[in-house]
Amino acid sequence: MDTQHERTAAQRLHQPADGEKAEGEMKAIVYDAYGSPDVLRLEDVPRPKPGDEDVLIRVRAASVNSWDWDNLTGAGGGVGSFAVQLAKAYGAEVTGIDRGDKLDFTRSLGADHVIDYTVRDFTEVSRRYDAILDVTAHRSMFAYRRVLGLSGGYHMIGGETRRILEALVMGGVLKICRSSRSFGILMHRPNCGVSYFVGLFESGKVLPSIDRIYPLSETREALRRIGEGSVLGKVVISV
Ligand SMILES: NC(=O)c1ccc[n+]([C@@H]2O[C@H](COP(=O)([O-])OP(=O)(O)OC[C@H]3O[C@@H](n4cnc5c(N)ncnc54)[C@H](OP(=O)(O)O)[C@@H]3O)[C@@H](O)[C@H]2O)c1
Repeated sequence: MDTQHERTAAQRLHQPADGEKAEGEMKAIVYDAYGSPDVLRLEDVPRPKPGDEDVLIRVRAASVNSWDWDNLTGAGGGVGSFAVQLAKAYGAEVTGIDRGDKLDFTRSLGADHVIDYTVRDFTEVSRRYDAILDVTAHRSMFAYRRVLGLSGGYHMIGGETRRILEALVMGGVLKICRSSRSFGILMHRPNCGVSYFVGLFESGKVLPSIDRIYPLSETREALRRIGEGSVLGKVVISV
């Protein structure tokens, strides 16, 4: 991606700030190269002008980022903190897996059981799970298969390309063999099930867990905090 293009894309992504800017301008976090949070700068940029087919959205806040399933890796993180609550809303018995200092938080989200991944490898225990939702995919697909019930499903949300390919191959082989177990990738689909999720939020069954809110000008610090690995739930940028 060339610099001009990256810059334009960053400008498109960032939304109007608090109305204090001159007409036609807004604050935005911009970057010209990949790298650590140090490459990010807060700048005044031209406000995007929507075309006939476009919609201009005013964003007030954004999050900074790095379902009957029973087993959930990365349960204390941004994705996991929602997934534990969703799984409980479906009535599942949930085992949340994360680092030791995030397990009280994971329990507070509703997890019935917790495992510290630095102490115990859940794929080495005798228990079988109906479903595994994997945010990190650090283990081989054979290890996951070992702890998956006979008609269980493994769903990968995040992980290295190598693991994604392994999950796809395992899923394909199991399908050919007509196995009742399944392996696949869970992909975010924009606007899918929005009204259902709004209902869950309105009823209080699922709530966002916000670790900390940063102003737009401190986006770099927010990203650094994510990098430290101590975040519980989501980090939010207030615009
Ligand atoms: N498929 C999709 O549509 C979709 C959508 C959104 C996000 N994602 C992907 O999902 C992944 C996670 O995002 P996130 O925002 O939840 O990240 P996050 O907030 O960093 O959470 C990840 C959590 O997993 C923990 N973890 C690390 N290694 C583990 C292990 N071996 N076993 C269990 N837990 C472990 C981390 O703990 P530590 O602090 O100890 O590392 C952290 O608490 C990313 O790769 C992201 O790209 C995919």
